[in-house]
Amino acid sequence: MAGITDCAFRHFMKKQGAGILTTELVSANGIEHGSLRTRKIMQIEPSQVPVGIQIFGECPENLAKATAFCEEKGADFVDLNLGCPVNKVVKKGAGSAMLKDLPKLGHTLSLMKKATSLPVTIKIRTGWDQNSRNALEVAHVAFNEGVTWVAIHGRTRAQGYEGLADWDFIKAVKEAAPLPIIGNGDITSASKALARLKTSGCDGVMIGRGCLKNPQIFKESLNLMQAHTKITKKNLYDLFLELYKSLVLYCEPKILNLQIKKFASWFSTGYPHSAQFRKQLFTQKDPKDLLKIIEDYFEQIAALPQKDTSDEAFLMGGHG
Ligand SMILES: Cc1cc2nc3c(=O)[nH]c(=O)nc-3n(C[C@H](O)[C@H](O)[C@H](O)COP(=O)(O)O)c2cc1C
Repeated sequence: MAGITDCAFRHFMKKQGAGILTTELVSANGIEHGSLRTRKIMQIEPSQVPVGIQIFGECPENLAKATAFCEEKGADFVDLNLGCPVNKVVKKGAGSAMLKDLPKLGHTLSLMKKATSLPVTIKIRTGWDQNSRNALEVAHVAFNEGVTWVAIHGRTRAQGYEGLADWDFIKAVKEAAPLPIIGNGDITSASKALARLKTSGCDGVMIGRGCLKNPQIFKESLNLMQAHTKITKKNLYDLFLELYKSLVLYCEPKILNLQIKKFASWFSTGYPHSAQFRKQLFTQKDPKDLLKIIEDYFEQIAALPQKDTSDEAFLMGGHG
C-alpha cells in the first residue's frame, strides 16, 4: 500500500507473521529516470523474504527494464500493478487501464518475463467497470505469458473503494482460472481470512488495510488455521514499540513523525476516546512528547475491549 508498506512497516509485519510481502507500487518511468525517491521505495531487506517489488507504468519496454532492475535490487518476484484506479495513473494507460487492452498486456508480460528469471505476478481489479469484468480473460493472458499468480482485488476500477469486494466473482474466476489466484478485499479479521480462503477456494488471500487496525491479523489467521486457537493479544504499546524501532531504523527522518502519528492512530481504531487521542497526536510536534502521549493512551486502554469497526469506512482510496 502506497505510503504505508515501506521497508519499515514490512519489517514489522514480517515479525507479525505476514507470509509474502510486496512493496508499494513503484513507477517504471521513475526507475528509468533514476529517481532517488523511487529507488528508496524499492529498498528491501533480507529479513523480509520472500518479498516482491510491485511496478506500474504504461510503456512495455520501460516495464521490462524495470523488471530487470527489480531482480538486481534483490526482489524475489516482480508484481505488475493492474489495479490502480487513480486518474493520474489510468489517464496515461497504466494501472487498471491496462485491463482494457489485453493484447498490450500480453506483450508487456512477455517482455517482462524475458527480462528476468524471477517469477512475474500481477495484481488486478475484477475489471474496468461492471460491464467489462474480464478478470478471467486477464488470467488466461497471464497464464499464456508464464505469470506465476494473479491477485484480484474484488472491485472494479469504476467502484474505487465503494461497495464490497465481490468474493462470489473471485470464486468464479478461481474455479475457471488456469493459474493460482489470490483473493483480496475487505478481510479485517482472522476468521474472515479463513472463511474467504475456504469458500472462495483461492490459493491464498491478501490482506491490505486490515493489518493497519489489527497488526496481529496475520499471526491470528495462521494460528486459527494451523492450531484452531486464538492467540493472546499483545499489549498495544509493546506492539507499537516494535513498529517504532523499525520506523527509526528505516524511515527517512523527515517522514518519521508523520508515520508515527499515522500508525498510532490506526492502531487506536475502535478504542474509547480514540478520536481525542488522534487529535492530540496530530497537534503534537515534539517526537518525545509524541511517544509519551502514545504510551499513556495505549496503557490506559490496555485492558479495555476494542469495538468491532470492520463495517466502518476506512481508507477508502489507494493505488490498487
Ligand atoms: C492507502 C492505500 C494504498 C494502496 N496502494 C496500493 C499499491 O501501491 N499497490 C496495490 O496493488 N494496491 C494498493 N492498494 C490496494 C490494496 O492493496 C488492496 O487491494 C485494497 O485496499 C483492498 O484490500 P483490503 O480491503 O484488504 O485493503 C492500496 C490501498 C490503500 C488503502
